[in-house]
Amino acid sequence: MSPLTRRQLLALGAVGAGAAAVGAGGLWWTSSRGGETLGGDRALLQPEVLTSRDGVLDLALEAAPTRVRIGAREASVQAFNSSLPGPTLRVRGGDTLRVAMTNGLEAPTNLHVHGLHVSPEGNGDNPFVSIEPGESFDYEYVLPQDHAPGTYWYHPHRHGHVADQIAAGLYGAIVVEDPDPVPVARERVLVVSDITLDGSGNLTEVSPPQRMMGREGETVLVNGQVRPEAAAAPGERELWRVVNACPSRYLHLTLDGQGLRVLGRDVGRMPEPVEMTEVTLAPGNRVELLVDTREGTSTLRTAPVDRGSMGGMMGGDTPGDGPGDDEPIDLLILEVTGDPAGEPGPVPAGTALRDLRDEPVGARRTIDFAMDMGMGGMGGMGGPGGMMSFTIDGREFDAERTDQRAQVGTVEEWTLTNSSPMDHPMHLHVWPMQVMSEDARDVSGPRWQDVVNIPAFGEVTVRVAFEDFGGRTVYHCHILDHEDLGMMGTIEVS
Ligand code: C2O
Ligand code: CU
Ligand code: CU
Repeated sequence: MSPLTRRQLLALGAVGAGAAAVGAGGLWWTSSRGGETLGGDRALLQPEVLTSRDGVLDLALEAAPTRVRIGAREASVQAFNSSLPGPTLRVRGGDTLRVAMTNGLEAPTNLHVHGLHVSPEGNGDNPFVSIEPGESFDYEYVLPQDHAPGTYWYHPHRHGHVADQIAAGLYGAIVVEDPDPVPVARERVLVVSDITLDGSGNLTEVSPPQRMMGREGETVLVNGQVRPEAAAAPGERELWRVVNACPSRYLHLTLDGQGLRVLGRDVGRMPEPVEMTEVTLAPGNRVELLVDTREGTSTLRTAPVDRGSMGGMMGGDTPGDGPGDDEPIDLLILEVTGDPAGEPGPVPAGTALRDLRDEPVGARRTIDFAMDMGMGGMGGMGGPGGMMSFTIDGREFDAERTDQRAQVGTVEEWTLTNSSPMDHPMHLHVWPMQVMSEDARDVSGPRWQDVVNIPAFGEVTVRVAFEDFGGRTVYHCHILDHEDLGMMGTIEVS
């Protein structure tokens, strides 16, 4: 296909499986299956979209090894329903999401709906479930009627295997639709992940220092593609739903030459979009961006983020292991050409966000994230098996132990401290956190997130409203190697 033809097709939004479709919400998408051969290998694809109907989305997900094309390589990965990323699930407040999950892997797994405010009990968003190889499990998640709209995601959460399975390709996006959506020319889901493949396209082994640092894959993907291209006309408004699905890599995003506003982060939508030139996403974070297109070619780029190192603790730096010393990476090319589009309609005001600063606090606690040399600290590696230990309040994860008990109906204030030389992005399941202050600086305006970065040797204060459901679940570092190494605690809310 000549570049010109490809560009024309891109401008028409017709690249893909020849199956560009307009969904109920006027959404534009193409199937990821077969799109690469028909549409030219550079056009950005959208994962398959599964949308709830009459309040229900019922689907089967199989986690299994599969072969996909990544860049120029045939790769052996693990994915949901043979697609990397897995299908995008679109639901609304009040919906029931049912997932019949099958484990086609050789290791135990399970499913977590990251960020959804749903019950953690039984066959809900229960992180203690283990689905053995060959077995299945039927999940059912019931979203409250007033569930915050936004971009969420799903991934396995079987302790000890989380980083490996996500690094292998097991993730997908969840969209909770906004009852009063912002008019846009099109939406794009952008699932950013990273992966390391050897010359024959196989997943590589991860070394103990890489696990301790938190592995960063060599190749950064958007929807499973290497630096794909998207096209738009000038004067359009697009909504980009960006998910950081990397096990450990932080993203620091810029998009030169385009109007960029943040519509939402992690949970819900801001009352008004905020202009931004750059945005940082810790692993697990999402951001919703409004892109006001301007003629020209722009690049969505991620710059390195300094998230600390083990240098001092390891008795010397591990060359090549320090994140933050690499070059910026081009993620996506946006080509804006053609006749200018008409003015998009105004952005409807979002509803005011709840502000827990005005609410009484029922309990306060301090939770400390630490890295310890373990017994002896021999050779700087420490601990049995050469692993440093990753702890919360001095303890490694134990599924049987309950670390925190909170009461349904109370607001708590948590001070999250980090006594280690690396950042730890803290994630709490089920109940979102309002960030109160970061390193003693107050945060202005209510900011709701479900992953909050605790800087090295720093601290963050958050408030949480434990409401709508009780149950037992977890909080952990979303550098998933750290989580697998023990940096996770349990909480029982009753
Ligand atoms: Cu995205 Cu407990 O995880
Ligand atoms: Cu989660
Ligand atoms: Cu960590």
